[in-house]
Amino acid sequence: MKVRVFDTSDEMGLAAAKLFAERIRSKPDIVLGLATGSTPVRMYDALVRVAKEDELDLSRVVTFNLDEYIGLRADHDQSYRYFMNEHLFDKISIPKENTHVPDGMASDLEAMCAAYEEAIEEAGGIDLQLLGIGGNGHIAFNEPGSGADSRTRVVDLTSETIRDNSRFFQDESEVPRQAVTMGIASIMEAQEIVLIADGAHKADAVAKAVEGDISSAVPVSFLQKHPNCIFLLEREAASRLSPGVLE
Ligand code: GLP
Repeated sequence: MKVRVFDTSDEMGLAAAKLFAERIRSKPDIVLGLATGSTPVRMYDALVRVAKEDELDLSRVVTFNLDEYIGLRADHDQSYRYFMNEHLFDKISIPKENTHVPDGMASDLEAMCAAYEEAIEEAGGIDLQLLGIGGNGHIAFNEPGSGADSRTRVVDLTSETIRDNSRFFQDESEVPRQAVTMGIASIMEAQEIVLIADGAHKADAVAKAVEGDISSAVPVSFLQKHPNCIFLLEREAASRLSPGVLE
């Protein structure tokens, strides 16, 4: 995998946004895999700016989000559908029907997961996937223990993830205990993967991702096997990498 390091989170976000804009320009009906969390916010802000400045046509872009909490309605301000509308979809010219986020309120979650995988396949598969990284090495909501062959499914969140994500809720008890997430296998099928990370609290997970053993104990480490994957890192997040891995 390739690794690029930036002095600030803003530079990291801008680099990711420029890469996405470039790919959209060369394939206007591109299928994007999108992520939530605090890290992508800067990237989405930059993408909104770049799209306006460059008059990028987003009308044929199709998107699939990685994950969603179970039990939060789309209009709950901590649902990932709400996050995506607020930070990206409502600010760019993408038709809402082109945007997909797993439905965490589905009455038959298993059927919804299968339909989500089918919809990705029908769209032609994901061309470009954006990822963040959890402090415990999770990607999307693939917590430690997630297998290389895992696909879109219901998962239990670890206490570490619940604690990490409680900063977005009034109280830790409000954080959903379960989520729907695309699996490791679903993510690895993307043609190209861009992972972004910032902050010293991500340095350990980033080092394990890039230089550690490939193991389901650190799900992000599976990315080492992807043929076209780049990590865009802010300096602090890259601080535990050996100098040799930097481009
Ligand atoms: C959540 C999301 C992940 C994200 C992670 C890190 O658990 N499901 O997709 O990568 O948080 O988020 P942050 O960028 O806020 O650190």
